[in-house]
Amino acid sequence: MAARGASLTIAAMNTLTSSCAAPSGEGATPPLPCIAVLATGGTIAGAAADATNTSGYQAGVVGVEQLLSVVPALSTVARIAPEQIASVDSKDMTMPLWTTLVQRINTLLATDGIDGVVVTHGTDTLEETAYLLHLTVKSDKPVVLTAAMRPASALSADGPLNLLNAVTVAAHAGSRGQGVLVAFNNKLHSARDVVKTSTYAVDAFQSPEIGALGWVQDGRVEFQRAVVRPHTLATEFVIGPKWPHVEIVASYAGVSRIAVDALVAAGVRGIVVAGTGNGSIHVSMQQALADAASQGVAVVRSSRVGSGHVMRNGAAADDALGFVSAGSLNPYKARVLLMLALAAGGTGPVALQKTFDTY
Ligand code: SIN
Repeated sequence: MAARGASLTIAAMNTLTSSCAAPSGEGATPPLPCIAVLATGGTIAGAAADATNTSGYQAGVVGVEQLLSVVPALSTVARIAPEQIASVDSKDMTMPLWTTLVQRINTLLATDGIDGVVVTHGTDTLEETAYLLHLTVKSDKPVVLTAAMRPASALSADGPLNLLNAVTVAAHAGSRGQGVLVAFNNKLHSARDVVKTSTYAVDAFQSPEIGALGWVQDGRVEFQRAVVRPHTLATEFVIGPKWPHVEIVASYAGVSRIAVDALVAAGVRGIVVAGTGNGSIHVSMQQALADAASQGVAVVRSSRVGSGHVMRNGAAADDALGFVSAGSLNPYKARVLLMLALAAGGTGPVALQKTFDTY
């Protein structure tokens, strides 16, 4: 699936924002919440030549107005201000597009007339974008990401209902202050916990071990637990012009130190390792990572397992080697947090461990 199109400039986006018109005059009923729907591409905006094709399609080719037009029930839930932020396959997500998205959401949420934001996104990197927003959006107004596993052209496309549910959640008063949410296949997940767990199923997102935050169905939204770690207004993270260079390596049978040495030579600021089991690392790679840490590269141990925690000083002597444990963050989310922490001036394994223990 090829990416299509580049992100739009903020100036161009502003011209696309249709403000939520509210009824006026005496006796007018109170207006529905105004939700900005920011489209970025993905399978939810994908199209194939025929309706039975759910894998050989092009992502990000259907515009936001068209996505909204097939869900007339939206008008009973919210007033919509649509914007086309980008039209990309989310495997091609970039740091500049992340910067654009965060800045645009923060601008919109600082506007009195906007009550919440929905982001339509590809499923492939949705969990990374969601966690980034969870840490950098500076508002307690709802931000809800959604996506689809089947293109807009497919029989039984899942995008329209996911979009309606996401707008329903964003318009729901109880969603305020919950951090960034993901509405997918009737379930509601916290951005910190959610991961994509299937290459094809419409129930593709789970929050391993901890479970979904709640659910949305037929217009009803229910939260079943609270988000306890700090997010949005309670973080120190802001999006700056520069993104520290952080890469991910994996440990596996027979792995060498070549990749780590090459990254250090390339000048990375941080390396996240997708370790085996409890974040354990092959002895060859572990020595290379210890050498990297001794040169000031931030080294974070995560796990490739998919659920559970990486215990500090568990499968590796973090104190002695200068490593940081990612706790329950998977390698991709750990990379997001490490980039933000380094950008905020965090240095050294003690301070970075505190950041990972906090967020
Ligand atoms: C993408 O991530 O943009 C393509 C795949 C998907 O949305 O399911």
